[in-house]
Amino acid sequence: ERCVVAVDGPSGSGKSTVSRRLATAVDGVYLDTGAMYRAVTWAVLQAGADLADPDAIAKIALETELSIGTDPTSPHFAANGTNVDAQIRGSEVTGAVSAVAAVPPVRKHLVALQQAIIAAHPRIIVEGRDIASVVAPDADLKVYLTASAAARASRRSAENATDVAATEADLARRDRLDSSRATDPLRQASDAIEVDTTGMGIDEVVQQLLSLLDS
Ligand code: CDP
Repeated sequence: ERCVVAVDGPSGSGKSTVSRRLATAVDGVYLDTGAMYRAVTWAVLQAGADLADPDAIAKIALETELSIGTDPTSPHFAANGTNVDAQIRGSEVTGAVSAVAAVPPVRKHLVALQQAIIAAHPRIIVEGRDIASVVAPDADLKVYLTASAAARASRRSAENATDVAATEADLARRDRLDSSRATDPLRQASDAIEVDTTGMGIDEVVQQLLSLLDS
């Protein structure tokens, strides 16, 4: 049976962990759209493109051959034949990804790829910023995960072993860029159910989403 779940929200809201666990629970696959923007950003940096030149960024993005894993227990990503699992989580990519993701042809290209992946997998949990509003407006369940800025920063700094204050500043910077861009900004879709995960454990969030799916 078809089951498409859209999980949107800002960095550190628990999207990835929760989406992977939910995909496993419903025996479906998982699509990390942020990893796609990150892999394209890696290729843009690799090519030495000027981050202030949207045409150059778009050209590289459209030429980059992506391999996007959808196994929720071990998703792997490659760009132009190179595995980029580690590189896409690094500070260089994290620092540049919001600029790359703001370029309209980059979004158009990646949204089309995402829609093709969804069409090929009837049971899929899709995680991102614009899934409910743009990528899968007909999803069976739309969830918007939030958490306090402090909770998000402390989760992310624990994952990456980075300084909490610096992480909080980076998240705030990306939230601002992602929410203010002209094309498909991060925002809660009118028909998405908000789940504030501050102080909630992962199991608790997954259980809540499973009960929403049942209802
Ligand atoms: O891991 P984290 O939540 O920090 O971010 P991510 O989901 O890996 O996404 C990285 C960046 O990609 C975001 O800050 C956005 O700029 C961009 N992105 C987007 O524009 N649209 C999406 N559907 C997913 C990510």
